Amino acid sequence: MNEWNSRKDEALAAIAAAGTADAVEALRVEALGKQGWVSQLLKTLGRMTPEERQEKAPAIQAVRAEIADAIAARKQALDDAELERRLATETLDLSLPAPETSRGSIHPVSQVMDELAEIFADLGFSVATGPEIEDDWHNFTALNMAETHPARAMHDTFYFPDKDAEGRSASSSEAVSRKERMLLRTHTSPVQIRSMVEQGAPIRIIAPGRVYRSDSDATHTPMFHQIEGLVVDRDIHLGHLKWTLETFLKAFFERDDIVLRLRPSYFPFTEPSVEVDVGFEVVDGRRVLGGSGDAPGHGWMELLGSGVVNRRVLEFAGLDPDEWQGFAFGVGVDRLAMLKYAMDDLRAFFDGDGRWLAHYGFSAFDQPTLSGGVGARA
Ligand code: PHE
Repeated sequence: MNEWNSRKDEALAAIAAAGTADAVEALRVEALGKQGWVSQLLKTLGRMTPEERQEKAPAIQAVRAEIADAIAARKQALDDAELERRLATETLDLSLPAPETSRGSIHPVSQVMDELAEIFADLGFSVATGPEIEDDWHNFTALNMAETHPARAMHDTFYFPDKDAEGRSASSSEAVSRKERMLLRTHTSPVQIRSMVEQGAPIRIIAPGRVYRSDSDATHTPMFHQIEGLVVDRDIHLGHLKWTLETFLKAFFERDDIVLRLRPSYFPFTEPSVEVDVGFEVVDGRRVLGGSGDAPGHGWMELLGSGVVNRRVLEFAGLDPDEWQGFAFGVGVDRLAMLKYAMDDLRAFFDGDGRWLAHYGFSAFDQPTLSGGVGARA
């Protein structure tokens, strides 16, 4: 009937014979693409007289539709065939046993934090957290370290550049108030303040987390982990602190013969302040916690800082120090992990070496529990 019918039949035959999606696509471009012959035919409509157009348009549109349908049908058929092929060849044997060596492990720091959370949960403590990017007020001032306090110098603080309220760097003449100055928290003690402000009293929390100090050698890394403990209640005294630490350390090191020695010390946020030493004995050239530190071959190891919460700190946090008293302590989590699991280089904790983790890591199935043992190894 017309000149393009044979071309259409050729195209339909080619489409039906096309074996791949790419071949179908090439045929589509050849016919229906911008420069394709059907598109060219459609363009001729514009140049026709209305009568001519009325006569030819339906036929040309019919060709376009027929070819478009054939292409869609062929694509679908090829897709279906491909899916059938994959379903037939790709199999997943769900009955295969799990690999013998498990992949991935729990980092000792995470493990120890879980152990501590378990031990303290049993004593009625909940876990609190605070931001690692902290402001000057929470990290220092509210902990009784005024701007000029000499204790600040011992913290090797990482400060952020001063910013004004709009986030622009402030010039020294328009320096932001010290209260809002931002820093990387140097200890977990600011969580004491945040918890008291948010929850009021009574309170019983531990706060594990990362802390930062500009310090680096075999036993110091710029980032390390601490766990803070805080109890605020009525008539709290040093005896409560000592009992709690003793109970915690016995449970953590899984030994009943943990002996503590409390030495007077100084922290601006506690009064009185006590440094806590733990007795150790030397076994195979290694210090193992336990036993009286005074016996021959034994010694004392400094482990943590603690004390009775300073009245001024309670006041800063909005509590009446005549009504509420508290005790607090802070201890290095990495240090606890090294002592318990006999690891001697702190830096290896943060190397991300798979071999180290395979050796010192813990099974994800080995959840610390008081009944099963907080230190059980798979
Ligand atoms: N924040 C102290 C430090 O980092 C430890 C501490 C916490 C001491 C709580 C007393 C009470 O060294």
